[in-house]
Amino acid sequence: MVRAVDGVNFTVEKGVPLGLVGESGSGKTVTALSALRVVPRPGKFAGGKIIFDGEDLLTKKESEMRKYRGRRIGYVSQDPNSSLDPLFTVGTQLSEVVQAHEKVPKERASERVLELLQRVRISEPEARMRAYPHELSGGMRQRIAIARALAGEPDLLIADEPTTNLDVTIQAQVLDLLKDLQRELGMTLILITHDMGIVAEMTQKVVVLYAGRVAEVASTRETFATPKHPYTSALLKAVPRVDRKKELVPIGGNIPNLITPPSGCRFHPRCRFMQEICVAKEPALDAIGGGRQVSCHRWKEITLEGTSS
Ligand SMILES: Nc1ncnc2c1ncn2[C@@H]1O[C@H](COP(=O)(O)OP(=O)(O)O)[C@@H](O)[C@H]1O
Ligand code: SF4
Ligand SMILES: [Mg+2]
Repeated sequence: MVRAVDGVNFTVEKGVPLGLVGESGSGKTVTALSALRVVPRPGKFAGGKIIFDGEDLLTKKESEMRKYRGRRIGYVSQDPNSSLDPLFTVGTQLSEVVQAHEKVPKERASERVLELLQRVRISEPEARMRAYPHELSGGMRQRIAIARALAGEPDLLIADEPTTNLDVTIQAQVLDLLKDLQRELGMTLILITHDMGIVAEMTQKVVVLYAGRVAEVASTRETFATPKHPYTSALLKAVPRVDRKKELVPIGGNIPNLITPPSGCRFHPRCRFMQEICVAKEPALDAIGGGRQVSCHRWKEITLEGTSS
């Protein structure tokens, strides 16, 4: 058994955009899919709780989960193609999603699709409704995937690396859109990314994952100003900044194989503060005051370099 995420514990507050960060393979997507209970086979839940609005989703029947997926919690993946069917027009598939969420006549569903396309700022929405996904640019497809996720008017939107596959200018537009949607719809955002620049821009709170565990939880401001976990600090040094001449410091080594994870602290093979205890004993995720949490034996003794967000 591979524990893709293990002991991951954090709280999302209503209206406070949260960043879930970590390198590829750290467990971000598995965490997100878990909240919707759509972890692909052979993945399963070995334990834990996922509490949404006071209810533990892991105790719900499959039929009850339908009330949550899309309606309470929306999901946008890194690859818009995975949520769009190449064989149907944009209008047809969005209309189906709308009708799955609410029993409305076809005409009303079309109106609603038009509203959704306008909401995600698609130009010439009537024409786009008749288009097939392949006729649209990557940025436009991602907007449509966002419109699809908004169809059920979710309270929480999980955007899983929504701009990773897009050009830089398009990336900025999609991020701006997500910012505006939160305000316009009163929706809470979980933004998954490996890019600390995006975290600074988009979030108020950060959960740093490393190899399926939480390394650190703090407000975005504190994460950047005074990181407490060596991995967080290393992530910050690996961010390219236009306004800074400082050299980029890539994080040495690779994320470990979860089949045989390192003993003790999973970050120890890559950590410059590593000592015997780090190899021998796994650090707990400690509350360190002010709502912050850190999982490092040495956080009190070491001083890490931050950066202004
Ligand atoms: N259904 C699954 N069964 C077994 N292992 C999985 C499954 N899904 C993901 N994994 C593994 O879990 C780890 C975390 O994956 P993932 O959540 O996709 O990382 P991230 O999104 O941070 O890049 C990876 O090592 C991946 O190979
Ligand atoms: S517990 Fe040890 S190895 Fe892990 S991050 Fe802290 S100092 Fe580094
Ligand atoms: Mg992922």
